[in-house]
Amino acid sequence: MTHATVRIIRQEHAALAAMLRSIVLLLEQHRKKGSLPDFATLRAMLFYVDEFPEKRHHRKETELLFPKLRARTPISRDLLDKLDSDHARGERRIRDVEHALLAFEMLGESRREAFETTVGDYVDFYLLHMALEEREILPLAERVLTENDWLDLDEAFAQNRDPMTGHVPELEYNALFTRIVNMVPAPIGLGPALD
Ligand SMILES: [Fe+2]
Ligand SMILES: [Fe+2]
Repeated sequence: MTHATVRIIRQEHAALAAMLRSIVLLLEQHRKKGSLPDFATLRAMLFYVDEFPEKRHHRKETELLFPKLRARTPISRDLLDKLDSDHARGERRIRDVEHALLAFEMLGESRREAFETTVGDYVDFYLLHMALEEREILPLAERVLTENDWLDLDEAFAQNRDPMTGHVPELEYNALFTRIVNMVPAPIGLGPALD
């Protein structure tokens, strides 16, 4: 049986990947047309990445999942170190993306390419990161963690309730998700409510 934590992590990865890919697609479309994107929508999408994946998903991996794995097995220590350092660098990198967006918005065309490059690097970085977790870490966790480990993890990860994985947004996030949900392809963004 797949544990709830593994299911939630995979769903949140899929939601983040869909969001990141739709930002890249949106930028490509505007580049082709020579038009400027809706900056408020882009800001909302990046704010989501900062608010949910960065502050909830990655933080819980580093603070809860990875320490339990390190306690149960010496396997994949180097990879866990790398993934932890990705998490630490991720918060800094999203700031860089947000700053490049602000420069594009304030200064216009001369900063389009720099923003596209910064976004592209960030997207590649996180897609690789998530692929490594899915390929190496989740199967290892299924092999070595105990039922008590899973009880703790399942309870913690169930609290994430990322609206991009189908949960009804908490009240304060309503306007944010109304703005971005139509920009992200179904079924992630428009999937059935899980609540
Ligand atoms: Fe991660
Ligand atoms: Fe992850």
